[in-house]
Amino acid sequence: MIVNYFSKHWQHRRQVDIEKEEEYDYDALINEYYAEAIREEMSNETYHVVKIVGCAYYSDEKKHFLNLDKKAEVFKDVFKHKKEQLKDTEHRIRQRGEELVRDIKQQRELTGQRLREKSEHLVKDILETKAKVKERIEEVVEGAKPSEYLYPPELLQRLDFSKSPATFKPKISAAQPGEDWMVVRPLQRSDYDKGFLQLLSQLTSVGNVSQKQFDERFTQMKQSGGYYVTVIEDTRIAKLIGAATLTVEQKFIHNCSLRGRLEDVVVNDTYRGKQLGKLIVVTVSLLAQEVGCYKMSLDCKDKLIKFYETLGYKLEPGNSNAMNMRFDDPS
Ligand SMILES: CC(C)(COP(=O)(O)OP(=O)(O)OC[C@H]1O[C@@H](n2cnc3c(N)ncnc32)[C@H](O)[C@@H]1OP(=O)(O)O)[C@@H](O)C(=O)NCCC(=O)NCCS
Repeated sequence: MIVNYFSKHWQHRRQVDIEKEEEYDYDALINEYYAEAIREEMSNETYHVVKIVGCAYYSDEKKHFLNLDKKAEVFKDVFKHKKEQLKDTEHRIRQRGEELVRDIKQQRELTGQRLREKSEHLVKDILETKAKVKERIEEVVEGAKPSEYLYPPELLQRLDFSKSPATFKPKISAAQPGEDWMVVRPLQRSDYDKGFLQLLSQLTSVGNVSQKQFDERFTQMKQSGGYYVTVIEDTRIAKLIGAATLTVEQKFIHNCSLRGRLEDVVVNDTYRGKQLGKLIVVTVSLLAQEVGCYKMSLDCKDKLIKFYETLGYKLEPGNSNAMNMRFDDPS
């Protein structure tokens, strides 16, 4: 006996010979529906399909109903199992998918973090390098600047040596000392390293003056004003070879005048006899006039009177005695 049945969606009419039902290949039937079920992702309809098969048989021959209904139950279990398997697979796929998404996110975050760290590091590096370069530039610029002067060096450039009674053979002046390796200039802060104190020790006792003491005294002299320590440098060896100081006293007398005093004249012994003594004394004497002193005085040993006389200094009759009261030496 032939019965009709409809596959899913009622689209395909099929026929089954129920007499040969026992020989019917239910496995193939299951596979067919199962394949459909998979395609449809195991919707509820799958189970209806199995029911439809059961109904078709039931309408014709009852004895087959139970049999087929049982089969339907079996299908149901099989489909249920397959459905669960699919769900499980789907769940695992979803899980794996989520894991992958998490992994990608993590990777992205890590990469982002690493990139952030790297860029922060780079920015820090750039800023540090920039600061170092700036510091170095400042050092170079600072190093290229002349060391601080005790007084403006321009004052020496405008001294008129023709005003001095001193005779120079050959002619020299502060602006043109006769040798290109020689310079007449104000004392500089860096002169501690150019043998200034060693030069003074050829004149008198200097003591142990530290760089700090020298610096402090330099600052005090500069701040108080009126100290014109002037030097001659041999630039070939960066050493001072001559020095003399003009100190300016401020007075109330003579209409608040200024009086100059010549102090600490010395020329390095290996450079003596070459007009440098005359050059440095005339320089500070003209400087006294330049800054407005009404007179310039000095104390000296008798044997140097002649030397200073050639430079314009005079022993004024009745007014040329130097007297001292010493506080550092009681004898
Ligand atoms: C005094 C001193 C600065 C002179 O320096 P200098 O470079 O030799 O002098 P100059 O070459 O310019 O000489 C200038 C003239 O002075 C004469 N003169 C130099 N030193 C002299 C001395 N100690 N006694 C007498 N005459 C001297 C020179 O014979 C020269 O005469 P001239 O122009 O007729 O040739 C130097 O000898 C010196 O440093 N002495 C030790 C420190 C000192 O005594 N300072 C003076 C303190 S008041």
